[in-house]
Amino acid sequence: MSDATFTPRVFSGIQPSGGLTLGNYLGAMKRFVDMQDAGTHECVYCMVDLHAITVWQDPAALTRNTRELCAGFIAAGIDPEKSILFNQSQVSEHAQLAWIFNCVARMGWMGRMTQWKDKAGKNAEAASLGLFAYPALMAADILAYHATHVPVGEDQKQHLELTRDIAAKFNHDYGVDFFPLPDPVIEGAATRVMNLQDGTKKMSKSDPSDRTRINMTDDADTIARKIKKARTDPDPLPETVEGLERRPEARNLVNIWAGLADLSVEDVVAQNAGKMFGYFKQDLADLAVAKLAPISTEMARLMQDPDEIDRILARGSDRARDIAAPILRQTFDIMGIVRN
Ligand code: TYM
Repeated sequence: MSDATFTPRVFSGIQPSGGLTLGNYLGAMKRFVDMQDAGTHECVYCMVDLHAITVWQDPAALTRNTRELCAGFIAAGIDPEKSILFNQSQVSEHAQLAWIFNCVARMGWMGRMTQWKDKAGKNAEAASLGLFAYPALMAADILAYHATHVPVGEDQKQHLELTRDIAAKFNHDYGVDFFPLPDPVIEGAATRVMNLQDGTKKMSKSDPSDRTRINMTDDADTIARKIKKARTDPDPLPETVEGLERRPEARNLVNIWAGLADLSVEDVVAQNAGKMFGYFKQDLADLAVAKLAPISTEMARLMQDPDEIDRILARGSDRARDIAAPILRQTFDIMGIVRN
């Protein structure tokens, strides 16, 4: 464990690969806003375009999705004056530090990543080298800022453990206490939002069926319809949280309610005990529309001025570079790399 004291700093990222979902919002973005507003940490939030291109991205779509994601951050409550908001490729320190970490991390570590196994599937030979090295770039994102806290959804837990392993191995190999071992912040009721039609699968932008997710660009009618058509079981809501066991769809809707309303799962169950799901879903649809529709409306408004979005990203990149560049320079010095 590191003895050095580091400035409390948050880093997190989202891929601009299109289709921001309710999972991204409740598991990540909404919590980014909470951490920004708490004012206890400097917050750095990134559109990780270099991660997105580890699988094919159509160029025009990547441009649009990067701007749309930036609009999503702002519409959700990220203030680009308070937080640093930028896209990864524009701060070259990420790619430079990632290369160094490619030389620190071991093939075996990467090969054990469940997301690599899931995404590469049976045909790993055809996957990009970038997809395999994805977690080392993630470690570089975080450690280029000496970030101490990383808010993410549950699916990123293993990648954050690997980030700590990379930091620890670098510190050990060079006999320094230079990189912090960042803490994952995986908190709240909605760290794993599930598919609306199958509560055993994660809600994902890549599912072929649009009915399985709520997109942050969905309008009020679409949000309400998807919630009302969400799969549930025939029983009413239980009296206690234990009563949600082995009822994945019911549990998911309760979690979504708790996430949207900033309540605990216990509170949501207590408020709705004995209610039939038809009524519960009606109320949840009203809550989701009230919370989400203003975000999609604001995203659409911001998207009408792409130049302004690009200006915000450019300013964010400058601020990010001011933090990352000296950290990379010190890394070079530790490693004996001659600088000029
Ligand atoms: P991405 O774009 O896949 O997801 C962005 C964030 O959304 C969370 N998330 C969810 N949370 C709850 N329920 C869901 N169904 C759900 N789906 C997605 C993810 O956990 C994530 O927090 N590799 C990262 C991006 C990244 C990053 C980083 C994160 C790159 N560098 C450095 C933190 C620090 C990812 O999966 O993005």
